[in-house]
Parts: sequence; C-alpha cells; structure tokens
Amino acid sequence: IHREMAEENGGIRWRLVLVASPLQGHMTPMLQLGTYLHSKGFSITIAHPEFNPPNSLNHPDFVFLPLPDNISSPGKFTSFLGFLQALNDNCKPHLREHLVQIINAQKEKSEKESVVIIHDNLMVFGGSVAGDLGLPSIIMHSSSAAFFPAYKIIPQLHKDGRFPVHDPLMQEIVPELDPFRYKDLPFIDLPMQDALDSVNMIIPNTSPSAFIWNTLQFLEPSALTRIRQQYQVPIFSIGPLHKIAPTPSTSFLKEDTSCITWLDKQEPKSVLYVSLGSVANMDEKVATEIAWGLANSNQPFLWVVRPGSVRGFEWIEFLPEGLVDEMKGRGLIVKWAPQKEVLAHNAVGGFWSHCGWNSTLESVCEGVPMLCQPFGVDQLLNARYLSYVWKMGIEIVMERREIEGVIRRVLVDKEGEEMRQRGMEIQENVKLALSHGGSSQNSLIDLVDFILSL
Ligand code: UDX
Repeated sequence: IHREMAEENGGIRWRLVLVASPLQGHMTPMLQLGTYLHSKGFSITIAHPEFNPPNSLNHPDFVFLPLPDNISSPGKFTSFLGFLQALNDNCKPHLREHLVQIINAQKEKSEKESVVIIHDNLMVFGGSVAGDLGLPSIIMHSSSAAFFPAYKIIPQLHKDGRFPVHDPLMQEIVPELDPFRYKDLPFIDLPMQDALDSVNMIIPNTSPSAFIWNTLQFLEPSALTRIRQQYQVPIFSIGPLHKIAPTPSTSFLKEDTSCITWLDKQEPKSVLYVSLGSVANMDEKVATEIAWGLANSNQPFLWVVRPGSVRGFEWIEFLPEGLVDEMKGRGLIVKWAPQKEVLAHNAVGGFWSHCGWNSTLESVCEGVPMLCQPFGVDQLLNARYLSYVWKMGIEIVMERREIEGVIRRVLVDKEGEEMRQRGMEIQENVKLALSHGGSSQNSLIDLVDFILSL
C-alpha cells in the first residue's frame, strides 16, 4: 500500500508521528487511530513516554519511539497537573532530537518523506516541537467534543465572576454550554487556581492544522458546531475508533478472560458490569457502599476492582467477611476485564461506570444502559449526556439503598427496557455513521485527504 500511495503522490511518502499519552483511556484510541491510518498507507511512529509503554509486539507494523520521561514513580507527584507538566517537559527534548534526526537524514536521501505530527491533547509538547520545526500538527482528542468548549470557557467564567461556582448557580445550565450545568463543568472539584492552571496547561497554545475527535456527529452535534464556529481549521469526528480499527488488547493491566466463561453461564441481560476505569480512586467507605448495593440488589454482577483503586488497600481486603458471604455465588470480582468483549456479551444488561469517554462510547455502541458515577474531569459531562440527552443512563447517589434501587431500575424495571430500546436506536445510528456515506466514514476519508494535502 505504501509504495502505491507514494507513486500516486509524486513519490512522496508520509510518516505520521503519533505522540501518545501514557493514560489507558488515551493510549487505546491513539493506537486505534494509528491502525486505521496505517491501513490507508501511512507509515506510523508511536512516540510515547517510557512510563506505561504500549506493547509493541501487538503492532509489528509501527515504529515505537520511547521518550525518556524521568517519571520513576508517578506516586511522587502530588497532583495530576504536576505529573502532566513533568511528562511534557521531560519528553519534549527527546521528541525534538528524534525529529531533527529524521529531517536531517531526509536531506541526504533522494526519497522524500513528509512528516506530520498527530499529538494527544495532553501531550502539548508535540504541538510546540512541530511548530519549532515547521511541521504540521494535528491534535487528537480522546474525550468528548463537549469537554473542549467546557474547559475552554472556564477562564472566561472566572473573569465574569461565575467560577468558582457557588450555589444556587451549580444546578443551572451554563447558557453558553446548554444542556450542561455549572455542576457538570470540568475541574469543578479542584481549588480555583488548580482548575485554572489545569485549563491553561491543556488549552492548545499552538495553532494546529486540524483537530480529531473520537466521537460521532449525531451524538454531539451542538458541541461540534461550537468548536467549528471557534476554529477555522478542519475538525474531524471519526469515532468510534474501537469499531473502526479494532486492535489486539491495548490494556496496560492483564485482562482476566475467565469472566467471559462466567458470563456464558448467566441469563441474557441479567448481569451488571461494574468498572470505574483506569484512573479513579475511592475511599473504603465508597467501595463498601458499592459492595453492599451489589450484594443487596440480588442481581448477578461482574465487578472490576483495579488493584490499588481503593485507597489504603492492595485489592479487595476492605470487604468485610459477612459481605463476601452475601455476594458469594452471584458475583465475580476481577482485577481487570476485557471490557469491550464484556459489554458486547449478551448476558450483560447494565454497566455501572465512571463514564470515561471510552467506556461511554463502548457501552452506547453495544446499547448497554449505564449507571453513572462520574468522578470528575470530563466524566460529569458524559454522565449528563447519558442521563439527560441520550436517555441511556441514570446518575447514582452513593448510598446502598439508593444503589439497590437504581440497579433494579436498570436491570429489572421497564425503565431499563426503554433505555435498551434507546440503545438499539443509537446502535443503528452508529452503524449508519460507519457505513458508506456515513458521517464518520466521510470524516475519515476527509482526514486522509487532508493529511495528503499537507
Ligand atoms: C480517562 C479519564 O478518566 C476519562 O474521563 C477520559 O475520557 C479518558 O481518560 P479512563 O479512566 O481510562 O479515562 O476511562 P475510559 O476513557 O473509560 O477508558 C478506560 C479504558 O479501559 C476503556 O477503553 C476500557 O475498555 C478499558 N478497560 C477498563 C478495560 O479494558 N478493562 C477494565 O477492566 C476496565
């Protein structure tokens, strides 16, 4: 493919350098994007911090470029912002040096190779290195489109005296972001200066040639319109990438596949799948309320407890013995699951989630209704989409009696059936978007043409 592509384009080859973030929810879509673009004839380099490296054996066609990051232990950072800043500062010179080498080597070769940088929105150094070297850059977002205008507006809200937000404003809709409320805003839980610093850190400080979103036009028409009104460069909405370019496992943790055999033995749509993603941590009290809610619900469940995600415990030592007995026979607890396979399994009737964007997309694409327990960042916006706009989710109040009730609403009651119906409609729309002439398919074609025009 690569030779044909070069022949068609006057002998020019393209090397796309994808600058990936070491977060699970960011790495996966980046590798999927690379897989798609490689299938279209582009050479792919994945530049990534040394911390949480992707498994290169699963992607034999890519070149991997580990960037020394000096992050010996992420635990040494007191805030996520500090971690992100260190990653950006430490990786930047190494990326720059590598690109300079590529550019110099090309000068000596007769064969031309155009280099384009596609960088994760958190890896802002990718954009600044590209700018310094005169290379085009594209920003890849693995969160919803809604997240972008929602964090960009925060400095403005601060100037207007609307941030930090106080009651009763919290419950109101932000006029510029309808249907999102003040309480759904990113970083709302942080001290004000930390929130402003976080926004400043991730607002693009360079002018990218284009933006990519792992989203679908029909899911987020207003957010995409808002972005298109603000930026005069192409905006590509090419999701859901896990359906467009499925890859071998991209998990940093080992997937426990025994849960699929367990699911095979369960009744259709009877199981509640519970997973709170790759980052969220919680107190023992919250984890225990979840456990009691599951135990009392009388529904089968598959619960992912990521090691270390309950503060102060290695794994599930926080569970009182009586509770373990209560849950026996009806539930399975694992450390990490093959989530996409779980959500596509016929036995799964609901997904209790932190509403990270990947989990949200993976669930709505399988028509699985969600119980929403957002922890922060973009997750509050995703929960609002699920419960208020797409009507495929219910927000959870963290108290065991409430939890039991919500589990029944989703798995047993008519409400759950209605959400599944909505899920089927959304699934149909996803299929349309991916088929010939559909919005994501067209956007992918436009993206390839755009890169070739750079
Ligand atoms: C982070 C942020 O929390 C999220 O808000 C943002 O949108 C992306 O980055 P994360 O916590 O990793 O996300 O959640 P999510 O985006 O849902 O991604 C988690 C990924 O891990 C999903 O692709 C999911 O399939 C996978 N996963 C999760 C597993 O494969 N197995 C599991 O047991 C749990």
